[in-house]
Amino acid sequence: MRVCVIGTGYVGLVTGVCLANVGHDVVCIDVNEEKVKLMQAGQSPIFEPGLAEIMQSSMAAGHLQFSTDLKGGVEHGDILFIAVGTPALPTGESDTRYVEAVARGIGTHLNGGYKVIVNKSTVPIGSGDWVRMIVLDGVAERQLVPVPAGGIPETTHPEVAADFDVVSNPEFLREGSAVYDTFNPDRIVLGSNSPRAIAMMKELYTPIIERRFAEDPSAEPVPVLVTDISSAEMVKYASNAFLATKISFINEVANICDRVGADVTQVAQGIGLDSRIGKKFLQAGIGWGGSCFPKDVSALIHTADDYGYEAQLLKAAVEVNDRQRQITLEKLQQVLKILKGKTVGLLGLTFKPDTDDMRDAPALILIEQLNRLGAKVKAYDPIVSQSGLRHGLTGVIVETDATLLADHCDALVLVTDWQQFKELDYAAMGQRMNSPIIIDGRNFLDREALVRAGFQYLGIGR
Ligand code: NAD
Ligand code: UDX
Repeated sequence: MRVCVIGTGYVGLVTGVCLANVGHDVVCIDVNEEKVKLMQAGQSPIFEPGLAEIMQSSMAAGHLQFSTDLKGGVEHGDILFIAVGTPALPTGESDTRYVEAVARGIGTHLNGGYKVIVNKSTVPIGSGDWVRMIVLDGVAERQLVPVPAGGIPETTHPEVAADFDVVSNPEFLREGSAVYDTFNPDRIVLGSNSPRAIAMMKELYTPIIERRFAEDPSAEPVPVLVTDISSAEMVKYASNAFLATKISFINEVANICDRVGADVTQVAQGIGLDSRIGKKFLQAGIGWGGSCFPKDVSALIHTADDYGYEAQLLKAAVEVNDRQRQITLEKLQQVLKILKGKTVGLLGLTFKPDTDDMRDAPALILIEQLNRLGAKVKAYDPIVSQSGLRHGLTGVIVETDATLLADHCDALVLVTDWQQFKELDYAAMGQRMNSPIIIDGRNFLDREALVRAGFQYLGIGR
């Protein structure tokens, strides 16, 4: 099928590349010319395991192109994905200006044939109808007839000229495993009241669903859930809000464990064995960050407010998370007392492993707080230390390896659970430190091994 993906960030690029990889004819559009040039040269602008390889093979097979030409993209695609960012405004609302620009642009360039316009971006509930309206505005703008002197502008009939449906198709991929998640979705959610659009979307995803069977004939079939548009939009917010609340829940339990002397890792194992609870997303630590949970939970709270409902549980989940981001600082104060004049080394900067994404990363808050208290902050991150991203950071010296990081540190804090951090030579690092202290902000390291290596070890809730 002929597909156009507009916006080539973590979601748009992965979606476009994976759809091309299963044989669709995909054009990806972005306004960022530098990014487009990079992608045209076969390079991925983001770090995502496995992405660059299938991007290059899909380009070589002639299934994948990159461009800044929205008109060309709209003319090419029978299915047009909107996959631009929807960051949080200072009020907590979702900033939909990029979606609006794309929807208007699509309207301006609609070329007559039937199109399915897909909201892949996470957009506030009710955006399906709103996008339809904006697209029609775009159509109308194009069709403005010259205004006679002193006359009022007139439009032709956009509804007749523009033949399209809007589908909400929320994305559930996780950064760091985005390619895997796209090829192995837990479910595909399609929100629309148009049987024609739904049929086209099902056809689009069939090769992805079949690919999983080809790899593992015993695999469970991927459920395809068809809903109305608003429910599909709500599924996205409710999923992220649930997962974020689950993490805040275990973090609250961890804080109680700290006080009563229980071990939250054992508690999480014990409760996770109950199949009604499940063992995933019960890792206590420094709190949730990233480009989705914080903004999506805030946006849902805001939507509830708009409709006269106070989302108390969600507000509490955010409060617990905000407090949790102080926890490593409190533990540093507990062991080092005064932080002024001390040097703290951070293991990890990204909001989670296997990504280069720093949006709402807990490390950024910790750096700010440590600076405010007069501590010197150093950091090592497997991706950030090797990339241009390190130049954008202030208040932190980014080291190129973990051993250098340890030099003259009064304490280390593990912020991101990168697998590599399990294999470091902690005994050697401890020798280089002023005092071998480690705060394991993710309960990720081998506590006994660190104690044997001479470290004072503090975890979260254990
Ligand atoms: P991103 O910020 O990484 O990328 C957005 C891209 O859109 C950028 O490359 C930007 O240049 C481009 N863009 C902006 N305006 C444009 C325009 N008018 N025309 C063409 N391109 C334009 O965003 P992301 O993280 O991929 O998120 C995209 C959407 O998907 C958001 O709504 C987000 O909430 C949702 N989502 C993200 C994730 C995730 O893990 N990042 C997961 C699920 C859903
Ligand atoms: C999330 C959702 O999982 C995904 O479905 C959605 O499409 C986008 O948002 P992502 O933000 O990429 O994905 O990462 P995720 O693995 O969910 O982690 C989010 C945050 O929660 C990270 O900061 C992570 O460190 C933290 N986390 C996760 C915990 O603190 N404990 C856990 O048990 C799991």
